[in-house]
Amino acid sequence: MSGSARRVRVEPSSAPAYEVRVGSGVARAFAGELAGLLGVPAGRLFAVVDAGLPASWVDGVLGAYEVAGWAVTRCVVAPSERAKSLETLGGVLAALAGTGQERREPVLALGGGIVGDVAGFAASAYRRGVPVVQCPTTLLAAVDASVGGKTGVNLALPSGELLKNMAGAFHQPRAVLADVSAFASLGEREFRAGLAECVKHGLISADWGDEGLLAWTLGSLERIMSREEEALVELVARNVGVKARVVGDDERELSETGGRALLNLGHTYAHAIETLAHLTPDGDPAHAPLHHGEAVALGLIAAAACSASMGLVEASLVGRVRAGVAACGLPVAIGGLPDDGTLIARMRHDKKASGGRLRLTLPVGEGRARLIADPPEASVAAGWSAIRAG
Ligand code: GLY
Repeated sequence: MSGSARRVRVEPSSAPAYEVRVGSGVARAFAGELAGLLGVPAGRLFAVVDAGLPASWVDGVLGAYEVAGWAVTRCVVAPSERAKSLETLGGVLAALAGTGQERREPVLALGGGIVGDVAGFAASAYRRGVPVVQCPTTLLAAVDASVGGKTGVNLALPSGELLKNMAGAFHQPRAVLADVSAFASLGEREFRAGLAECVKHGLISADWGDEGLLAWTLGSLERIMSREEEALVELVARNVGVKARVVGDDERELSETGGRALLNLGHTYAHAIETLAHLTPDGDPAHAPLHHGEAVALGLIAAAACSASMGLVEASLVGRVRAGVAACGLPVAIGGLPDDGTLIARMRHDKKASGGRLRLTLPVGEGRARLIADPPEASVAAGWSAIRAG
């Protein structure tokens, strides 16, 4: 393990505190500590493995757990929104039951956000809850999905419409191992998608103890894009720090004014478009559908424009968010969107809606956001106008 590893503590109100370790090699290095953390002798370990990971990297990590005395079962899951389903969850649970694993024996989630969400949900349900250790292998999962205990799958309506993360559970991990050595295998597009969540954190971080996060991120993009280890460790640790403080304050997303819902900045817009299979980030149909992070990037601009239309922020913030998104190599506009009425109806399906009323997390200043109930439809539509191409 490299010397530059960092540790961030997460303190949820209803579950034991846990550590996020950030560094190169942390997933392997933890193998000898897992039994001690769980207070059990090494026994059976069920690894849910992202099908997109290089086999040699997975073998290296899981081999370390075998050397530490764990009998490892692998269950490979495809990292796609369609595969993030009740059917996949059923398959994982059946495979888990097939091992005979008992209540104190753990699940290890090795992969991106989709795999972490499915594995975490399976761990929450199997025998009514077994320990899970999240080992995020994408930037997006490391800075967001793996921390905070949200797990789940998408639900498909009879019409075929996919509702994002509509079935799930809060199930906090016992540890998170953000191993930046896994990022080497990420394609450019997938890596950049993770930066969208970093921009999101930078747009709320002033209230959460890291005022300079966005400026540092945008000023360090060259080092980050060339995946310099030290820059990646700092990027992940600072973003996890913001997320840990937000989750510690409002684990169950109950705050009426913000709290954990602040982490949904850009996401209600994003959820309305990311399951539309024809949308592409650059006009090339071969690149459809949008990656979650690409949809979030567009959603951040739309949220800023909505907020500016309501007079909650200076109009100039929209340009600054757009420039930040563009600097990360993420899309700032998109063609082929349905009309505003259709999009706003899809936003009302989002699980953050309450009594059919829309609630949006919107920027209200530099590095600050709030949860706003009932934004006027014209302002919500101004958000969509800000990202329509052509
Ligand atoms: N990704 C948003 C949250 O964890 O609350």
